[in-house]
Amino acid sequence: MSGATSMRTGRCGELTLDDVGSHVRLCGWVARRREHGEHLAFVDLRDSTGVIQCVVEGSVELRSEYVIAVSGVVRRRPEGMENPALTTGAVEIGDCTVEVLATAEPPPFLVDDRAEVDEAVRLRHRYVDLRRPRMQRNLRLRAAVVRAIRAAMDAQGFCEVETPLLWAPTPEGAREFAVPSRLHRGDFYVLPQSPQIAKQLLMVGGFDRYYQIAKCLRDEDLRADRQFEFTQLDMEASFVTQEDVLGFVSEAVLDAAQAVTGERPPPIERMTWEEALDRFGTDKPDLRIAAELVDLGEVFAGTEVRAFGGPCVKALRVTGGGTMSRSRLDTLVERAKALGAKGLAWFRVVDADGASALESPLTRAMSEGEREGLLAKTGAVPGDLVLAVSDEHRSACTVLGQLRIEVLGRPVGEGPHRYVWVVEFPMFESIGADGHPVAAHHPFTMPHPEDLDRMATDPLSVRSQAYDLVLNGWELGSGSVRIHRADIQARVFAALGISDEEAESRFGFLMGAFRYGAPPHAGFAFGVDRLVAIFAGEESIREVIAFPKTQSGADPLTGAPKPLSASSLAELGLRIAAR
Ligand code: AMO
Repeated sequence: MSGATSMRTGRCGELTLDDVGSHVRLCGWVARRREHGEHLAFVDLRDSTGVIQCVVEGSVELRSEYVIAVSGVVRRRPEGMENPALTTGAVEIGDCTVEVLATAEPPPFLVDDRAEVDEAVRLRHRYVDLRRPRMQRNLRLRAAVVRAIRAAMDAQGFCEVETPLLWAPTPEGAREFAVPSRLHRGDFYVLPQSPQIAKQLLMVGGFDRYYQIAKCLRDEDLRADRQFEFTQLDMEASFVTQEDVLGFVSEAVLDAAQAVTGERPPPIERMTWEEALDRFGTDKPDLRIAAELVDLGEVFAGTEVRAFGGPCVKALRVTGGGTMSRSRLDTLVERAKALGAKGLAWFRVVDADGASALESPLTRAMSEGEREGLLAKTGAVPGDLVLAVSDEHRSACTVLGQLRIEVLGRPVGEGPHRYVWVVEFPMFESIGADGHPVAAHHPFTMPHPEDLDRMATDPLSVRSQAYDLVLNGWELGSGSVRIHRADIQARVFAALGISDEEAESRFGFLMGAFRYGAPPHAGFAFGVDRLVAIFAGEESIREVIAFPKTQSGADPLTGAPKPLSASSLAELGLRIAAR
């Protein structure tokens, strides 16, 4: 697409040697201007596609970021004057006539990827920031990802349906934004944290393959991977199993990856939640880091070493970590304790007369077999460091899993994309203060059929049919097979300690709908912002959102959130109690 309109013949960044000799009219912003004497200037003209050099003769008053139209002829740059850093670097526009379409004040910062600009300043003048190549690239990448997702879902027979933003509370656990009703004074709508309930109602409504590029709203603390408003690819289907959903979502994600990288990633691997915890110490394994946790249970069975007397001993080999200073090791021990471990054992592997030996305050108390077992199991060689934690299985794994990331470090920026499906999440995450188990997902998640009988007797061992998609250690999305049968739902509510009255008041309208014929159904949602950020090699989703909020939830551009006028408050029947 040349971008030709009634005002221009095409776009700046698209001109090449093939265009030499053509008369063009281009529109854009003055990126840079270099004077050569009084009557000759080189003007870099920028539009959404890039920059082209215009040779302007005569005296025209042009400043940075003025909006101009340039008419002229494309010509080959004189030999030695080419600029290989520009895609248009072999050509320039000569015989220029310049028309100023709009003047501009000096920009608050350079419109250039190389300029390091404070984020608050960037967001305050986001319209200038958006002109920078990085933001142009990221938002266009985002559009390409959404386009590919839509195409994949359409091709798989899904129907896009919009669900309301003014809605009622949903049972997913995040704090919700409330919207006061003017017509029903004193009552509130709630902005949906996801279309979860709406999509389940669509299943009862016979839309057996639904999807939506859905805006979701959650009033939670903001982080690099979290905003109040974000976008999900939300989907749900009827008469399907978990297997079908994993297939549909994999197709959409891999198509999106192919659209933006040009290469189709291999089929997404899969592991159970239990395996992810055991091997990587987390349900969000970053598979780009090769090191895995090693089980030293057998090595320390019946040990005399008190530090290794816990029910489980896990270790992590840090290749080349043997040079770590004592004070750095002390910091790691403190960090492990802060993460909940009773302690952290460390071993430097050294060369002793051609053989590997261990250096650690604990080695003396260890038997020969234990020292050899530790080396053999971890595969550590001289120069390496081994970290070990002895505790309950879950705690030992999670502490070392976190150290695995902190010590070995996540690769930053662009690089391989490692996807993994984590399946068979536990149904309940812990036992709450009231003695009832706490649901790990929303209460409509279907338990694993083999574990139904243990719901009352051993709830923490019950697996669910819930699954997550993880990319490079980020949770990209999650979903589950839903409960569509009243008898199973009643058992789950009973296990959770939710009374019939409470269930009726919180989820009555969904349960009511289910009484009219609910098909078996399952679904999933993934964060589009997170997927695009990873594709763009960005550390924060704010870099792939046109108008994000700052970490403190403010918008420096509009000043939101702001007080409402007294008359608006009165109309809504609201009074501010305190500030
Ligand atoms: P869940 O709550 O896991 O599941 O959300 C799915 C995905 O949405 C993204 N996400 C966010 N992205 C940016 N900012 C946020 N504040 C934020 N919160 C969530 C993440 C997350 O993995 N209804 C269920 C899905 C289902 O069961 O079908 C749901 O919303 O990438």
